[in-house]
Amino acid sequence: MQKDDIDQIIKDDLKYLIHPQYFAPDHQEPIIFEKGKGAWLYDYNGKKYFDGLSSLWNVAVGHGREELAKAAYDQISKVAFTNNYTGFSNLPAIQLAKKIIELTYDNMQGVYFTNSGSESNEGALKTARFYWNLKGQPKKNKLIARQRAYHGGTLATSAMTGLPPFWKYFGPLPKEIIHAQGESRDGEELNSDGETASWVEDTILREGADTVAAVIAEPVKGAGGVWTPSENYFKELRAICDKYDVLLIADEVITGFGRTGQWFALQRWGINPDIVTFAKAITSGYIPMGGFIVSKEIMNALQNVPPDAKFMHAYTNSAHPTASAVGLRNLQIIEDEQLVQNAQVMGQYLSEGLQNIFAKKKNISNIRTLGFIAGFTLVEDADSNTNYDPTLGMGSKFAKFLREECGVITRFVGDQIVLAPPLITVQSEIDFLLDGLERSLKSIL
Ligand SMILES: Cc1ncc(COP(=O)(O)O)c(C=O)c1O
Repeated sequence: MQKDDIDQIIKDDLKYLIHPQYFAPDHQEPIIFEKGKGAWLYDYNGKKYFDGLSSLWNVAVGHGREELAKAAYDQISKVAFTNNYTGFSNLPAIQLAKKIIELTYDNMQGVYFTNSGSESNEGALKTARFYWNLKGQPKKNKLIARQRAYHGGTLATSAMTGLPPFWKYFGPLPKEIIHAQGESRDGEELNSDGETASWVEDTILREGADTVAAVIAEPVKGAGGVWTPSENYFKELRAICDKYDVLLIADEVITGFGRTGQWFALQRWGINPDIVTFAKAITSGYIPMGGFIVSKEIMNALQNVPPDAKFMHAYTNSAHPTASAVGLRNLQIIEDEQLVQNAQVMGQYLSEGLQNIFAKKKNISNIRTLGFIAGFTLVEDADSNTNYDPTLGMGSKFAKFLREECGVITRFVGDQIVLAPPLITVQSEIDFLLDGLERSLKSIL
């Protein structure tokens, strides 16, 4: 494309498009992507970038997979769309639900499909309330979420999100959604962001267990900066939820389908949640889809309701046949190419590479990794643990140099840099990424 044409496209973008997380001053020179192949993206100027965050944590199998284009084409060629409301169904959705149940936690039984992670979390909360209503406990309607968590952009999921910029100008928020706050017990191991399971327990006790429907937790807090849990955190959280008869919702929108080196993240610790939410990697981003999975107990409750208690929760595009066909084919790629195992191996390699950089550079600290997801903090001086003055915007400067000079795209949250490359990434590509990170650290010194 000619330079004049590209300039015109950018002008039109600035004039007509409202972007997610919109802030016009930061959107004066947008990169307009044209295409992708594997772990690489190309813009309209022909510049090539390593996709350090699988775009938005979602393109697990990499770009340009013709198998997925064909799965969509074949399904669309058969039928545009079919109604999936009670009384109707479609084959790809049935097969996909069955496959997800095979791959997920042993206690899971039913899948409800949505179009996004936000809808999945909102649906999980509604389902938790519905369940307690069926059990004759309508007072159990509060949800406990956590600081620094990200759960979505609807009103309820914005309220769940423990990052104030996401709700600052959108209030008032539903007051039944509460962020955990409390005291760590003596000797309790801290998560990488300093939180412990006791914070949730304190919050349940403060609110009254008979008013709490569920706790929602990302196994790794992703968009908030990649904060990993301590080894015992989820075991303790499960025990607390059991003790107070509260449902545990695992938000696996980022961690689901292999990211942490397990199909689902809590499998690492042998923990079963009550509801699991997913999106992103279910279709590797090729087409929108999300969903929530419920335990046998909740499924049993949904299948044995009184006549006046229909589960009146619906989206037109729930269990869309095309999205389901793409999801099914995508999971087959993850299985055939052993990408869950690759996430473990490449995650380990990335983690070691980050530690090597840490040993050499003064301005990086607090490296967090779990499988193939990583985060670290930019600091002025690692030895004395001195943070950068937040007004310097070091995260932004770092990400700009990384993008423009080193050809690597990723995101930052303040001075936290986050990484989650596609699960198909190979060692030489991680070397390219690590080299870019090291040069960018030098550039901001
Ligand atoms: C953990 C988590 N939950 C929920 C969401 C919301 O998903 P969506 O943007 O598809 O609505 C996201 C999005 O990044 C996420 O990371």
